[in-house]
Amino acid sequence: MNVVEVDTPGGQYPIRIAPGRLDALDQSIPADATAIAVVTNPTVAALYGERAEAALARTGKRVLRIELPDGESYKDWQSLNLVFDALLTHRLDRRCVLVALGGGVIGDMTGFAAAVYMRGVRFVQVPTTLLAQVDSSVGGKTAVNHPLGKNMIGAFYQPLAVEIDTDVLNTLPAREISAGLAEVIKYGLILDPAFWAWCEENAQKLRNLDSQAIAYAIRRSCELKAQVVGKDERESGLRAILNLGHTFGHAIEAGLGYGAWLHGEAVGCGMVQAAELSADVAGFPRTDVGRVRELVTAIGCPVVAPDLGADRWLDLMQVDKKTEGGEIRYVLMARIGEAMMRAAPEDAVRAVLARTTQ
Ligand code: NAD
Ligand code: GLY
Repeated sequence: MNVVEVDTPGGQYPIRIAPGRLDALDQSIPADATAIAVVTNPTVAALYGERAEAALARTGKRVLRIELPDGESYKDWQSLNLVFDALLTHRLDRRCVLVALGGGVIGDMTGFAAAVYMRGVRFVQVPTTLLAQVDSSVGGKTAVNHPLGKNMIGAFYQPLAVEIDTDVLNTLPAREISAGLAEVIKYGLILDPAFWAWCEENAQKLRNLDSQAIAYAIRRSCELKAQVVGKDERESGLRAILNLGHTFGHAIEAGLGYGAWLHGEAVGCGMVQAAELSADVAGFPRTDVGRVRELVTAIGCPVVAPDLGADRWLDLMQVDKKTEGGEIRYVLMARIGEAMMRAAPEDAVRAVLARTTQ
């Protein structure tokens, strides 16, 4: 088993990575917990609900299942309220533990529910998509979407542990694997040129879920994310670089309607757009823009963004947590492995939109 430690002011916890972790979930439940609520969706529950609950039942505690509708379009207040309805109906007290069993949508909503139910109860992340295993389950960002902007309502709230069972990736659709790989390659692009080059060499193995390659990619991604959130839990500076491709990507998601493109697909395409902008305004080498486009293609994500109209694009990108005083700020790169956050002239952004959308 690989263990990566996360150490933030809001919590210190292990990320345990191994095949079969689903059968050991009882190890993450503290002895003083009064009850456990597994928050999941019908898709994941059908595949893994019983196994997860059987492991949790070994604690001898009451185990409740809460199923939320599946999909990004349900990552909202209404679904969140279903969690509170169930917790209150079943009288779970403030020593209960929530278990997020699912992808990033379930993880983000369960974390937010844990942050605010009775002003905060403990929770464990059990990410079942690649994207959630390499990104969303780590670092304590929790949220729901608002019709006017993605992840706009939320909290920083760290889990007790992250339990990554690499076997569950075998039931993920190929498109979801590609979306998760977008976040994997992101770490190389912003932080680690050697990891980026390794991803270029191993793109096909990663898409095919080669067990050694995928285990290494998950561990390295978690290590890099843990390093960043350990230095800047609440995104007062450095952590913003984890949002490479997200300013463009979130505009795609909100502009087309949540769920039309997968989050990871939008981030993959957004990284190509950010690379283009970096070349125009931050000295990122043109040859490396080509490498970004090639790797995003190789992992199976789109590289041509939807034509929402430049004005609409700019409007959508304004609604971003990095925007300050009305000025949109982008994560840009000076070179592979070196990212920064800064504003960009509007005409440069329009030029990039003109050549990256269709
Ligand atoms: P998702 O949660 O919608 O999961 C994708 C699909 O896969 C769903 O239909 C789900 O039911 C299904 N699924 C999950 N596990 C499965 C399995 N093992 N086998 C078969 N099907 C399975 O999407 P996602 O890509 O995991 O997460 C995207 C969300 O994560 C977005 O809302 C995004 O904003 C958020 N996110 C958050 C952070 C963070 O730091 N908190 C970081 C990145 C992304
Ligand atoms: N996914 C971006 C972050 O966790 O900061």
